[in-house]
Amino acid sequence: MKRLLFILGAWAVSAIASPSLLGRADKEQEEPAGSPGLMTVPDKFNTALGVDWNRTYGQTEPQQIHLSFGSDSKYARIQFATLSPIDQAVLKYWPKSRHVSTSSKKPVTHLRGESWTFTDGGALQRELYMHMIKTKNLKAATVYAYQVGATTCNGTEWGPELEFHTASKEDEFSFLSIGDMGVNNAVSMPHLVDFAKTHKYDFVTLSGDQAYDMADFNGIKGDEYMNMVQELFARVPYMGVPGNHERAYNFSHYINRYATLPHKESHFANPLMYSFDYKSLHLISFSTEIYFYGTPEEVQTAINWLEADLVEANKHRQQRPWIVLITHHPLYCSAPSEDCTSKAQLIRDGFNNTGFGALEPLLLKYNVDVVIAGHVHNYERTLPIAKGQVTSQSYHQPKSYMQVIVGNVGQPEGAESFNTTGPWADWSAKRYDGNGFSTVKVTSETFSMTHHQANHDGTLGSVIDSFTISK
Ligand SMILES: *[C@@H]1O[C@H](CO)[C@@H](O)[C@H](O)[C@H]1NC(C)=O
Ligand SMILES: *[C@@H]1O[C@H](CO)[C@@H](O)[C@H](O)[C@H]1NC(C)=O
Ligand SMILES: *[C@@H]1O[C@H](CO)[C@@H](O)[C@H](O)[C@H]1NC(C)=O
Ligand SMILES: *[C@@H]1O[C@H](CO)[C@@H](O)[C@H](O)[C@H]1NC(C)=O
Ligand SMILES: *[C@@H]1O[C@H](CO)[C@@H](O)[C@H](O)[C@H]1NC(C)=O
Ligand SMILES: [Fe+2]
Repeated sequence: MKRLLFILGAWAVSAIASPSLLGRADKEQEEPAGSPGLMTVPDKFNTALGVDWNRTYGQTEPQQIHLSFGSDSKYARIQFATLSPIDQAVLKYWPKSRHVSTSSKKPVTHLRGESWTFTDGGALQRELYMHMIKTKNLKAATVYAYQVGATTCNGTEWGPELEFHTASKEDEFSFLSIGDMGVNNAVSMPHLVDFAKTHKYDFVTLSGDQAYDMADFNGIKGDEYMNMVQELFARVPYMGVPGNHERAYNFSHYINRYATLPHKESHFANPLMYSFDYKSLHLISFSTEIYFYGTPEEVQTAINWLEADLVEANKHRQQRPWIVLITHHPLYCSAPSEDCTSKAQLIRDGFNNTGFGALEPLLLKYNVDVVIAGHVHNYERTLPIAKGQVTSQSYHQPKSYMQVIVGNVGQPEGAESFNTTGPWADWSAKRYDGNGFSTVKVTSETFSMTHHQANHDGTLGSVIDSFTISK
């Protein structure tokens, strides 16, 4: 989201309990969080996915299926929703290669899950029934097929057969990295699903802002979005972070819809923050939205949690050399808006020039390698940077972290253009204001990102940018 009016003091955040106040402060359309917003319509991108995801679902038919990994894909959590209550959520899964239909001993695992009711904060207090099942320990380098089911007195209604894969035994792995995706104008989405189906990408990070907004129309927008992204997040585990578009009703849509995230394992109270390990990578999901919608206590809790997590991650730095932070708001950006001036500075340096809540000192102290942000609807890459200064021209053994913005998957608000006349800060190494998404390849020695262009005619364009950081 862009061109925000920052008319309230940062602590007008007791405002979290007051959607209308937040709305004036922050929502571009000048509408309160959870307001109707823009109605979704079928378009070239959301109809190109090969399934009728926006059909009318049965009351107890599983929908909105998605999963997230625990560390090193040792297990996954799979979530789905139903429109009416059910008696029991169930899951069956099996290694795909060994699923021989003639075999009498199919290695199928059957599990039961937990269920809860999620009540949207809007006028209708609309209820949605949430279900989640954690797998048992998974085998490495395996493609699993799975189905979730909803059991009622009428039997079990099964969802579609889907599949995901676990970590290979090699050092190298790849993942997808995106930010800022709507139901409408999701320009990159068909390509992301194509990439997901190759089984070459182990998970997808999403740097905040989804659906625009999930809470709209009493939460129906959230259902539509979650059914669309099932095509991606039911195949490639979702490892994301919340954005300002998730803020309605204390981020409750995000918290309830992405209960799959491994926050308990990382000692955070809810899915808004977590970290996880994957081969040579320690990935931290840190919600910058605390700076705009959190109380001082929430800021302190988050910063304490982050520092403890970074201390622990550095104890294992030999084994897992890469520390990457995914956030929604960036610390640096060049678009002509307050996101790139006062807001970025608040995140970097903390509140009121006191340093309270400052993020950048922690990134430097604990030698974070990369920040992947969104929010600004374009792509921008920095050189290694610290306190506004370039610390080296090369990504070989850089002296500090660097940041990439991938806020350009595609959403109804459109792209954030750069001021073409410049002048540009010397840390801004690459700028692209079209749509696209990144792929990331990680080994113990190298961290490489490639940005792919997604064209408005639906075709995949060229590679916009690529770079490699080496240890
Ligand atoms: C989804 O279905 C609803 C109800 O039929 C319709 O109003 C809306 O336009 C559809 N949205 C998309 C993206 O297909
Ligand atoms: C079971 O099926 C009957 C007949 O279709 C239907 O009326 C009833 O609502 C169903 N019950 C549940 C819990 O789905
Ligand atoms: C949001 O959280 C605040 C503080 O914990 C609480 O007072 C308020 O009732 C919550 N609002 C909603 C809609 O859950
Ligand atoms: C920052 O300044 C504002 C306005 O003077 C004040 O209300 C707020 O408490 C201050 N916050 C901190 C963390 O010092
Ligand atoms: C672009 O940058 C120039 C030079 O800094 C400035 O004069 C101009 O106002 C900027 N334009 C916009 C649209 O921000
Ligand atoms: Fe945003």
